Amino acid sequence: MKIVSTEFVKSATAPEHYPRDKRPEIAFMGRSNVGKSSLINSLLGVKGLARTSSTPGRTQLINFFLINQAFYFVDLPGYGYARVPTAIKETWGQMIETYLANRQNLVLSIAITDSRHNPTPLDLMMRDWLEANQQPFIVVATKADKLSSNQLRASLKCAEAVMGEGKVIAYSAVTRKGVEQIWREISRRVR
Ligand code: GTP
Ligand code: MG
Repeated sequence: MKIVSTEFVKSATAPEHYPRDKRPEIAFMGRSNVGKSSLINSLLGVKGLARTSSTPGRTQLINFFLINQAFYFVDLPGYGYARVPTAIKETWGQMIETYLANRQNLVLSIAITDSRHNPTPLDLMMRDWLEANQQPFIVVATKADKLSSNQLRASLKCAEAVMGEGKVIAYSAVTRKGVEQIWREISRRVR
């Protein structure tokens, strides 16, 4: 897809702050520091639209980015960061669950895992959230540049078995491996 415009629109914590129009939304979710914001930037070929950080917990709100005036990318807060106080953790969880449960505009969720690790209990929780809310999703295993091709193959096999949603797309924000495959999935849903 040709990207002609990208624009940060707003941050939200509750449904009354979500954009009011009916444009379709693609949501990016996954553990804190897994690479959600980096995935958004590299899919769009821009730097710094979604803020990234080596410190987990950078994205603490639901951020809406309008792409080509046609659809939104939604950067969800990373969950499961150990050093965040329990009360805040619960708020983040509720924020994500509320969004997934009620958002009519949501056409596809991108569930992001770290290709270097087997899916964690938190990754399974993410899958359960999506399935419980009957939300269509694809699984993207990012940071693939950190693995050899043999390691990557084994990692994808494990993720496919555990996450239970067909094929897992290997991705790297560094090499842009997987970028076309992900755009294919998105394009099918936003036109
Ligand atoms: P929170 O907003 O804190 O939940 O994090 P996030 O999931 O948005 O992660 P973010 O995109 O900020 O990336 C976290 C760290 O991982 C940063 O240091 C990134 O540079 C790094 N990173 C993200 N994607 C990749 C990748 O594909 N390859 C490599 N090598 N590093 C990556
Ligand atoms: Mg982020």
